[in-house]
Amino acid sequence: MVELNGKCALVTGGSRGIGRAIALRLAESGANVGINYLRNRSAADKTIAELSKYDITAKAYKANVANEEHLHSLFKKFKEDYGRLDIMISNAASGILKPALELTQRHWNWTMGINASTLLHLVQHAMPLIGEDGGKIVAISSLGSVRAIPNYTAVGASKAALESLVRHLSIELAPKNVNVNTLSAGVVDTDALKHFPNREEIINGSLAKTPAGRLTTPEDVADVALFLVSPSAKMIHGQTIVVDGGYSIVA
Ligand SMILES: NC(=O)c1ccc[n+]([C@@H]2O[C@H](COP(=O)([O-])OP(=O)(O)OC[C@H]3O[C@@H](n4cnc5c(N)ncnc54)[C@H](OP(=O)(O)O)[C@@H]3O)[C@@H](O)[C@H]2O)c1
Repeated sequence: MVELNGKCALVTGGSRGIGRAIALRLAESGANVGINYLRNRSAADKTIAELSKYDITAKAYKANVANEEHLHSLFKKFKEDYGRLDIMISNAASGILKPALELTQRHWNWTMGINASTLLHLVQHAMPLIGEDGGKIVAISSLGSVRAIPNYTAVGASKAALESLVRHLSIELAPKNVNVNTLSAGVVDTDALKHFPNREEIINGSLAKTPAGRLTTPEDVADVALFLVSPSAKMIHGQTIVVDGGYSIVA
């Protein structure tokens, strides 16, 4: 049991998929949870209804996490609603899936911006809301940060930058009692996979190669996120924790 009563958490992209599962785990453990989303209001409403079944405060914030002004107003509203921040999960991501030779400067900048720079801006906004008790920050990454995957050039590079940023943030924030870590997932069958032209191939390839014999679920990722924000993980700083059923260690 992880006890998060009274803590306040923000999960970007918390309305669907992995973010939603993490938001629910945090709420189950007693944390008040704000979720952010971009376009799909009905999914956000549905998740808020599920979160509200726990005796916590749940609110949804529409914002594009790649947009500095949106982030500014997101944190302003979050401060008005919760007054403080203890846990932040940087989960929302995007990016252009194309062969490297077809990537334009615009594709590259967008992908690096939303997947890597966004964490820096989120943390800069979050720190004034984190008290002396400290806080927990978890960024969600993927195996494309360390492996080469067709069409994943820009996203893979952005996730590698994200993981490096986590390490640099962690040395700056550890003395302030803030843990910053990365949680990197294997293939998880969320809506995000629908954007891959070779979705079936990705799922079947992952299933065939995963020693645990099944795909990683959003709940598997959420369980580890819950551990990382718990007091038991207080000496874990700047690490990338992989949740993939053993997929990435198979030769
Ligand atoms: N699925 C996988 O196989 C996998 C594997 C490894 C790592 N990951 C990582 O896990 C994270 C979540 O992925 P997922 O598969 O759960 O995605 P998903 O099911 O597609 O959900 C994406 C969430 O992010 C929100 N979002 C998208 N763009 C946004 C933006 N610009 N600003 C704010 N919110 C935005 C969406 O809101 P709307 O619904 O309003 O658009 C939604 O809540 C990502 O960092 C991804 O790279 C995924």
